[in-house]
Amino acid sequence: MRIVSVVGARPQFVKLAPIARTCEAADVDHLIVHTGQHYDPLLSDVFFDELHIPAPTIHLGVGSGSHGHQTGAIMGALDDVLPGLAPDWVLVYGDTNSTLAAAISAVKLHLPLAHLEAGLRSGDRRMPEEHNRVLTDHAADLLFAPTPGAAAQLAREGLAGRTEVVGDVMTDVLLSVAREVEAMPSPLGAELGLDDGGYSIATIHRAENTDDADRLHRIIASLRRVDHPVILLVHPRLRDRAAALGEPLEGGSLLAHDPLGYRELIASVRSARGVITDSGGLQKEAFLLRVPTTTVRPSTEWVETIQAGWNLLVEPGQALVESASRVRPSDTDVTPYGDGHAAERVVKILASRIPTG
Ligand code: UD1
Repeated sequence: MRIVSVVGARPQFVKLAPIARTCEAADVDHLIVHTGQHYDPLLSDVFFDELHIPAPTIHLGVGSGSHGHQTGAIMGALDDVLPGLAPDWVLVYGDTNSTLAAAISAVKLHLPLAHLEAGLRSGDRRMPEEHNRVLTDHAADLLFAPTPGAAAQLAREGLAGRTEVVGDVMTDVLLSVAREVEAMPSPLGAELGLDDGGYSIATIHRAENTDDADRLHRIIASLRRVDHPVILLVHPRLRDRAAALGEPLEGGSLLAHDPLGYRELIASVRSARGVITDSGGLQKEAFLLRVPTTTVRPSTEWVETIQAGWNLLVEPGQALVESASRVRPSDTDVTPYGDGHAAERVVKILASRIPTG
């Protein structure tokens, strides 16, 4: 069996890591195509290095652009290379423009398509990721749902026959890296002289937050007012937008910092008092590490983190400030995201379901 994984953006490299490792252990032929959607070393190379992911077989080097330009450029480039790779399965990950482009390219080329992290919905049709999720799920032949809730959503959309619940591959990575960094002091704490439990980590990069000048200003103003240090890990999209608007990313309790590699991030989050974010992956990672999270979005696709009481959705302003210093919720041992063996199930199912003819 030959699996061709198509990835392009930071969270996809994290999800790719356990699939690559499982394929290697099971002697499965696995090729990686990197679209080039993310190209800064801090958003790409560092994940391949740290998570021991083999180098991509093909790098399309597409880079940034508007949604149509970026998605179209990836589709065109994939049309030229996918048939030659002769995949038994094209595997796409999550909800980025690289996901959608690879899905469309694969179905048009009549190549079997599997979607990892299927069935997630925020219900917010203004989010580019929501378009990408829905369209990719309906294009794919095989849908790997991370949770029963995601599978139920796929069933409501008439896709039950193509769905398998496998657990969440990001949880596979988180659990193994958390064990590896157990004895590592917080890299952010050590660098900035902050005590364990004395700081929050923030990430803000979603278009809905960065590309609305007033909303971005209110988010940054709120972060400055939190009653303990907040370290903002600055994604290039935020850096560029804030510079264009003349919005300083420091002041009050707020400190700006470059993005971290995966291990440094996990070791730093584990010792944090809280996380303030609009990232999907980080909401889940913080929950698995039992760090209270404040999500600056009107909705989330990771509803289990809310139901368990560890994540709050807030608007910028007083609600954000208060949520960031709220009392720690009572402990829970729920495991909605699986047992850390999702990738093994994915590879096994792909091997048993190779379409013929
Ligand atoms: C993309 C995904 C988002 C995911 C995020 C993870 C889509 C629609 N969005 O958002 O779901 O959560 O990745 O980080 O696919 N840039 C750089 N260097 C890079 C990459 C981007 O400077 O290596 C800058 C460019 O100005 C670019 C902007 O960031 O225009 C946005 O990049 P893009 O890949 O379009 O979307 P993200 O915001 O990263």
